[in-house]
Amino acid sequence: MINQMETSFPKNKINILLLENIHPLAREMFQKEGFHVESLAGSISHAELEEKIKDVSVLGIRSKTNIDAEILDNAKRLLCVGAFCIGTNQIDLTACSLKGVAVFNAPFSNTRSVVELAIGEIIMLFRGVYEKCQKLHNGIWDKSAKNNFEVRGKKLGIIGYGKIGSQLSILAEDMGMQVYYYDIVEKLALGNAVKCNSLKELLSNVDVVSVHVDGRNDNYHLIGPEQFTKMKPGVLLLNLSRGFTVDIEALVANLQSGHVRGAAIDVFPEEPLNNQQIFQSKLRHLPNVIITPHIGGSTEEAQEHISRFVPSKMIDFINSGSTIMSVNFPNLQLPEFNQANRLIHIHTNVPGMLAQINHILASNGINILGQYLKTTDEIGYVITDIEKNYDAKILDEIKKIPNTIKFRVLY
Ligand code: NAI
Repeated sequence: MINQMETSFPKNKINILLLENIHPLAREMFQKEGFHVESLAGSISHAELEEKIKDVSVLGIRSKTNIDAEILDNAKRLLCVGAFCIGTNQIDLTACSLKGVAVFNAPFSNTRSVVELAIGEIIMLFRGVYEKCQKLHNGIWDKSAKNNFEVRGKKLGIIGYGKIGSQLSILAEDMGMQVYYYDIVEKLALGNAVKCNSLKELLSNVDVVSVHVDGRNDNYHLIGPEQFTKMKPGVLLLNLSRGFTVDIEALVANLQSGHVRGAAIDVFPEEPLNNQQIFQSKLRHLPNVIITPHIGGSTEEAQEHISRFVPSKMIDFINSGSTIMSVNFPNLQLPEFNQANRLIHIHTNVPGMLAQINHILASNGINILGQYLKTTDEIGYVITDIEKNYDAKILDEIKKIPNTIKFRVLY
């Protein structure tokens, strides 16, 4: 017979690796739980991560670290990955599921920050502030009203009416802008916003285009040479979504020809891995182009919010098995149950798994105190609470059930 201390893993042996300068609050939260935490300021190379991941149980990343099948092949101890950002396209979610690795993110935490930057940039672009500011820094007093406009009454076209796009719609309308939006999914118009039935309809109507689509592969070069020809001459373009959604070559050509009068770009097809690398882009040194180093969501408020939200979900997962708001695992909210041992079984989603687990327990005379099962297309997630004393051989038997991906005793 064995007890909890012999089966569950001591917390200080759980190694947590935080990359990409994640807010110190996250480290504090994990340390408070008794985990061992290593926090690095930048991202590391794929090869370095392949090596380092071998000892890691919990990994925290932001948008620059790619988690692919090769990394996962080495991640024998990995329980979960936290994306301390909104998007999870940098993570191969299917591969994670099939390795029994739960992924968490912070889908809402920095949306307001992105919206506020977009609002500021729309005003700056209409007023040509960036160019005038640079001139003045060089001693040139260029006082003129020519080509300076108020935003009131101008038409803003929002592509992607999700969490960010729809908030931008409300704030922009509050400033007196007329909002048009286009989304591939049916979305309710907020305020007086006008829904467009096609991208073309939106592009040909508006004075400023702001891209807020998600990072799905289809959105590669969503705005390219053809789309620029549909836009009104003198249009302004903002992209604070994903770098690959706008064809930079086409944007540069349209800025140089004057067809696009200004742009604010926060995300780029290639971004430096850390603050030491030089940023290379044809957008550098173009007039009336505001370029920012992917800081749309980077405010103290958003970082703090993210750094509380993601660890809290991961700690719940480690401590109780709860998967609420996991992006790839079936979502289960579980009570902590001190009178029992909790077994967590992750398997490929094939019929009969629950029956096999229960058969092993029953044939060893073990009483089930509670059981929860949920599946996705790929995996099944079973939590079984059993009475405290049991024979360790059942653990081996359960581990050996064909199609088992991961099995652990929680407490
Ligand atoms: P979301 O998932 O709530 O909204 C995206 C919307 O775009 C959805 O309604 C979707 O149906 C729509 N969509 C997708 N493809 C489309 C297409 N081709 N045409 C029209 N609509 C399309 O995402 P959320 O939270 O609003 O984020 C939007 C983007 O902003 C994401 O790409 C995200 O990664 C990025 N982001 C950038 C940040 C930054 O620092 N610059 C910070 C936070 C998010």
